[in-house]
This record gives sequence, structure tokens and C-alpha cells, in this order.
Amino acid sequence: MDSMKTAPVMKEDVRPAAAGDVSALCALDAQYNRMLVAGAGEAARGNQMGQTRRFYKGVLGAADHLLLVAEVRGWVVGYVHATRETAPGDLVCPPWACVAAIVVDRRVRRRGIGRALLRAVEGWAREEKLTAVQLGVHAFNRGAVRFYERAGYRAVMLLMQKDAPRARRRQPRRSP
Ligand SMILES: CC(C)(COP(=O)(O)OP(=O)(O)OC[C@H]1O[C@@H](n2cnc3c(N)ncnc32)[C@H](O)[C@@H]1OP(=O)(O)O)[C@@H](O)C(=O)NCCC(=O)NCCS
Repeated sequence: MDSMKTAPVMKEDVRPAAAGDVSALCALDAQYNRMLVAGAGEAARGNQMGQTRRFYKGVLGAADHLLLVAEVRGWVVGYVHATRETAPGDLVCPPWACVAAIVVDRRVRRRGIGRALLRAVEGWAREEKLTAVQLGVHAFNRGAVRFYERAGYRAVMLLMQKDAPRARRRQPRRSP
């Protein structure tokens, strides 16, 4: 893997994930989750991704899920997980695709691997006749926001959040 850091030319192969990729997916999620907690603090813990073998085994081959990996010389260097989404009133709102997660190994970023994965989702959306590709991104994650913008994505909605008030701790009664 380390030899890839200095490799001048890399061509990734984007293919459907298989059971043998699950460990690599979990390792990529661990990388992302560390970044998430460092950037967004403890509040981000609830937004952490996958990271369990059971989760990925459930997703593999499931209807309405797309799980692809990017491989370079036998190493899984990134993945994307997308889903087909429908609104309850889906007669008036046709199905769309949602990127649930996309991660590229930090050692091989900025080499077009993320873009190749995102393009594959867009191709899937086209084949499935989905109307759009949507995703959520943490506002602090400026690099990812730029990545999506460069790929033609625009913000259409703002997700707002406030921490829920914590339950007050009861003070122990002092004896007179
Ligand atoms: C976001 C991520 C998937 C991008 O993958 P990548 O393989 O590095 O992206 P690419 O090389 O395909 O980038 C394509 C273009 O997007 C833009 N871009 C990508 N990362 C960027 C960054 N950190 N800062 C600014 N622009 C960036 C650039 O314009 C880039 O083209 P260039 O390198 O020729 O200038 C990757 O940084 C990653 O895994 N981040 C951690 C996980 C994460 O944040 N996922 C998104 C959660 S919503």
C-alpha cells in the first residue's frame, strides 16, 4: 500500500463490492469517522458511518443499494454507497439517488478516484431512471463540499441543528 503513495500513475477499477471487501470498507469508515469527530466534535458520533461487518453484509446485494469499490493494483482504495430513495407520495415525487457515503483512502486522494466513484453513481442513477443524485455533507468538511461543487452539485436545502437540552442533574440534598 505504501508504494502507492509514490506511484506516478494509478488507474482505478470501479467495481461492485464483494464480501471479501468488507474489512477494507470498515477500515475506510474508521478513517472517515476519525476525521468526522475531529471536525465536528462529539455531536458527530451519531452520524458515524457503517463500520460494522453486519451493516455491509446487509447492504451487499440488497435491492435499492449500490455499493462500489475503487481498486488499484488489488488494493481497495475507496468506496461509494448509494441508495434509491422514494418519498411517501412518490407519485408526485419520482425516485432519486442518495449518496450515503463516499470515502477515498487519505493516502491516495486528489487523484480522481472520488470523481470516478461519483460518476459511477450518476451512471447508475441514469440507468435506473432516477431524477437526481442527492447527498448530505457536513458544513465543516470544506474539501468534500468543494469536491461535490466541482462535480456540479449545488446546495438546495440547509439542515439546521441545535443540541437537545441535557437533563439537569439532581443536586444531592445537604443535611442541615
Ligand atoms: C471527498 C473525497 C471522497 C474526494 O475524493 P478524491 O479522490 O480525493 O477526489 P478527486 O481526486 O476525485 O477530486 C476531484 C476534484 O474535486 C476537488 N477536490 C477534491 N478534494 C478536494 C479538497 N480536499 N479540497 C478542495 N477541492 C477538492 C478538486 O477540484 C479535485 O480535482 P483536482 O484535484 O484536479 O483539483 C475524499 O476527500 C474523502 O474520502 N474524504 C473523506 C471522506 C469524506 O469526507 N467523504 C464525503 C462525506 S459527505
